[in-house]
Amino acid sequence: MKKDLLKLLDLTREDITRILNTADQLKYEQKHGIVQDRLRGKTLAMIFEKNSTRTRVSFETGMFQLGGHALFLSGKESQIGRGEPVEDTARVLSRYCDGIMIRTFAQDEVEELARYADIPVINGLTDFCHPCQVLADLMTVREHKAVLEGLKLCYIGDGNNMANSLIVGGLKMGMEVSAACPQGYDPDPRVLEFAKSDPSFRFSLVRSPEQAAEGADAVFTDVWASMGQEEERAVRRRAFEGFQVSGALMARTNSGCMVQHCLPAHRGEEITAGVFEAHAQEIFDEAENRLHAQKAVMYLLMGGEQ
Ligand code: CP
Ligand code: NVA
Repeated sequence: MKKDLLKLLDLTREDITRILNTADQLKYEQKHGIVQDRLRGKTLAMIFEKNSTRTRVSFETGMFQLGGHALFLSGKESQIGRGEPVEDTARVLSRYCDGIMIRTFAQDEVEELARYADIPVINGLTDFCHPCQVLADLMTVREHKAVLEGLKLCYIGDGNNMANSLIVGGLKMGMEVSAACPQGYDPDPRVLEFAKSDPSFRFSLVRSPEQAAEGADAVFTDVWASMGQEEERAVRRRAFEGFQVSGALMARTNSGCMVQHCLPAHRGEEITAGVFEAHAQEIFDEAENRLHAQKAVMYLLMGGEQ
């Protein structure tokens, strides 16, 4: 494993499998009341320059369950919001803490933080990717379907941070991946290049949600306007018309097809209320698995295990 978790492009299939296996083990232990003090005395600094419910609560709770401590740093209230250079923040936090989790806008800021920090840096979402979420997603699909290899993962909607991480994560784990995005809202070119780079990858990017959903085993979607794009909401609502996970779309998929959503969800936009509620169990399993997957990441990166 590398020092940091910055994006799934940096991980091998073996790394991802190791994280998922560790996450399963930690979930089992927690459900059976086994004490998990693998990070006793360690501290995680959590920098948030965007809103969060799941990421904040799951990292903070996870750190507590591992015997450590997590502290919340708001981008606005810390000196980061007053322009202190990221390379200084990295070196200061390295003197106090054992790991940094950061949620921000630019991927470059996270990469820069990791370059200057002596301690592991974990990406808790950028405009480019959401690796912790997709580790939880892969864990959830594997939990429900027993395997990942050979399954078809379908993504409907904006070619955003979630699409980018799902495409990379799914392909690395041997899944077939189809994405349906409206023209002008494609995934990041670096991700598309990766998807084309290996002849063993089975990837398609189409404009028709119906075509993408054909024979899918797990359908994913995400909001049409991500954090930071609130002003584009009306324009995006028009552009994404038809890119909705609905009952009609689900009729194209394989029987037993899962639905996953990283949350928060906008019922009536990217997903109908009916599909959401019919798959609520899987969706909230996915939310729960953020806790277990991130505990695995923190243990593997911060626990001295290499
Ligand atoms: N899925 C996710 O990252 O949720 P939060 O924005 O609530 O952290
Ligand atoms: N694409 C969404 C994901 C939220 C977890 C966003 O970036 O706002």
